[in-house]
Amino acid sequence: MRVLLVGGAGYIGSHVSMAFLEKGHQVGVFDNLSSGLRTNIHKDAQFFEGDVLDQQRLSAVCAEGWDAVVHLAAFKAAGESMVSPEKYSINNISGSLNLMIAAAQHDIQTFVLSSSAAVYGEPEYLPVDEAHPTKPSNYYGFTKLDIERNLGWYDQLRGLKYASLRYFNAAGYDPEGRVTGIEKNPANLIPVVMEVAIGEREELLVFGDDYDTKDGTGVRDYIHVTDLAEAHVKAAEQVAASRNSMVVNLGSEAGLSVLEIVESARRITGSKIPLNIVERRAGDPAKLIASAKLASELLNWKARYSSAEEIIETTWRVYKKAHG
Ligand code: UD1
Repeated sequence: MRVLLVGGAGYIGSHVSMAFLEKGHQVGVFDNLSSGLRTNIHKDAQFFEGDVLDQQRLSAVCAEGWDAVVHLAAFKAAGESMVSPEKYSINNISGSLNLMIAAAQHDIQTFVLSSSAAVYGEPEYLPVDEAHPTKPSNYYGFTKLDIERNLGWYDQLRGLKYASLRYFNAAGYDPEGRVTGIEKNPANLIPVVMEVAIGEREELLVFGDDYDTKDGTGVRDYIHVTDLAEAHVKAAEQVAASRNSMVVNLGSEAGLSVLEIVESARRITGSKIPLNIVERRAGDPAKLIASAKLASELLNWKARYSSAEEIIETTWRVYKKAHG
């Protein structure tokens, strides 16, 4: 297949790009490099610099004959989306609509979306399966849900078949060390822990230790980015072949608390990782754990790299290297 990865120079995109190339597909990367990195673009991928808000440029690139688009270009800081919603409306919602329109216009028939467990909001039961009600507790999650709903209409009205992949907490780096770019100003737990371990930040702020969880800190389902990447390839192939759309969770089905992540990071990095317990962060659920049964059934996919050790070891290697 010829696959256009929109946002393909980002952290997840760079792993997805390798996964498609490894399976013998041709890859194009469309990215505005706002948070994506030039060093993340695979040498065998064709690069198109551009912004999803530039409909003309998007349309011109989509005209180049693609079988599928994978849409990974979005802002993703849940906390920030609650104070700067406009940024998320424009980039995430308008940008995605532009891409759907361009795909439909140029007869690209398969669309894979980076969606998120944030569409569910505070879980009503665990593990969270795809039938769980969708009531996002932050605006970021709402933008992903809104994009999914639009995809449903483009499927019905324009025959655009899609896979919406609801990631739980993406983490880790390529186990073979081929991705070396690190995120600037991260807000997610593991990169922040790494910055503390490397000495770039003084301490980790733990957002609340009075949740109803094993140790009071937030519990999440961390899914290794290499596992995610593999699922994108399977989803694109499956949707292209079956012409059936799907909405699936991608998670490890295991829950790790903030303190468990810190413990594991202390062991692996040998750093003390000082922490400070502060107020809860708005919009954060106590616990989020996936059921990935549907992904296993539809895609024959299962997380293979998602232990705390594999996630932290592969991330630490990249941080150490980046800091000499
Ligand atoms: C959120 C979204 C998730 C999305 C991800 C992308 C929700 C419920 N989840 O994940 O779907 O894919 O953003 O960015 O909206 N923490 C600290 N200190 C820190 C950072 C985080 O204690 O400095 C804690 C959080 O309170 C949470 C856990 O660590 O319990 C993970 O947080 P984070 O990595 O930011 O991801 P989520 O908010 O779970």
